[in-house]
Amino acid sequence: MNKATRKADIAGNWKMNKTPAETTALINEMKPLVAGADCDVVLCVPYVDIAAAIEAAKGSNIKIGAENVHWKESGAYTGEVSADMLTACGVEYVVIGHSERRQYFGETDQTVNLRTLAALKAGLKAIVCVGETLEQRELGYTETLLKFQTKMALTNVSKEDLKNVIIAYEPVWAIGTGVTATADQADEGNGFVRAAIAEAYGADVAETVTIQYGGSMNAKNADELTAKVNVDGGLIGGASLKAEDFSIIVKAASK
Ligand code: 13P
Repeated sequence: MNKATRKADIAGNWKMNKTPAETTALINEMKPLVAGADCDVVLCVPYVDIAAAIEAAKGSNIKIGAENVHWKESGAYTGEVSADMLTACGVEYVVIGHSERRQYFGETDQTVNLRTLAALKAGLKAIVCVGETLEQRELGYTETLLKFQTKMALTNVSKEDLKNVIIAYEPVWAIGTGVTATADQADEGNGFVRAAIAEAYGADVAETVTIQYGGSMNAKNADELTAKVNVDGGLIGGASLKAEDFSIIVKAASK
C-alpha cells in the first residue's frame, strides 16, 4: 500500500466555536459542497454540538467526531465524557492529544495513550495529534520528539486496532498562526511519524496508516500539501469553519 491506495482524510477541528444552531447551518452549507468527495470527510465539534451535527450530517458523506474523550468508562470525573457516551450519540471519530490540550490542560503522552486505548476499545476512530514546538524544532529535536510522541501514544495498541488510528502531525508553531509548514517540512514530519510506526509495527503496516498534516492548512496551500507522498489529508482548524474553504481542501485531498 502507498499514498495511491491509502484513503486521505480531511477532518475539521472546530475547537471552541459554534453553537448548535450555527452547527446545523454550517453543515447544511457544507453538505452539497463536499458531496462525492474521494476522501473521508470528518467534522470534530464541541460536545454540545454533537447532536445537531449528527442530525444535520444524516444522509451525507460527512462523519462526526468529538474533540476529546476520557479514558474511564464512567465515574466521578466531573466535566469529562467517556468513549461509550460518544458512540451512543453516533460519534465515529475523536481527536486525542491536540497540542492545545497538551499546552493548556495538562495533557501528557501517557494520558494521550490512555485516551487512545479507551477510544479504540469503544470502536471510535482516533485522530491522535503529535507535533513539536518552535523551540524543540530549533534545538534539532523534531524527529526524536515526533517518534517518541507517536510511540507513546500507540503503546499497547494492537496491529488490528491500528487500522482505526489516524495520526495528525501538527507542528505547534504552525497552528492558528498563519505560518504553514512548507510542503517539504510537512512531508518530512509525516515521514518521521511513519518511520516511528514502521519501527513499532513494521514497514508494511506503516504504509497503511493515514497520517494527516495540520497547522494553517487552507484553501490556498491544500493542493501543495496534500500532493506530498506522506501527507494523507489534513486536520483543519480555522478553515473548517468556512464551508467554501473547507470544501476546496476536501477537493484538493480527493485528487
Ligand atoms: P489551524 O488550521 O487553525 O491552524 O488549526 C490547526 C489545528 O490545530 C487543527 O487541529
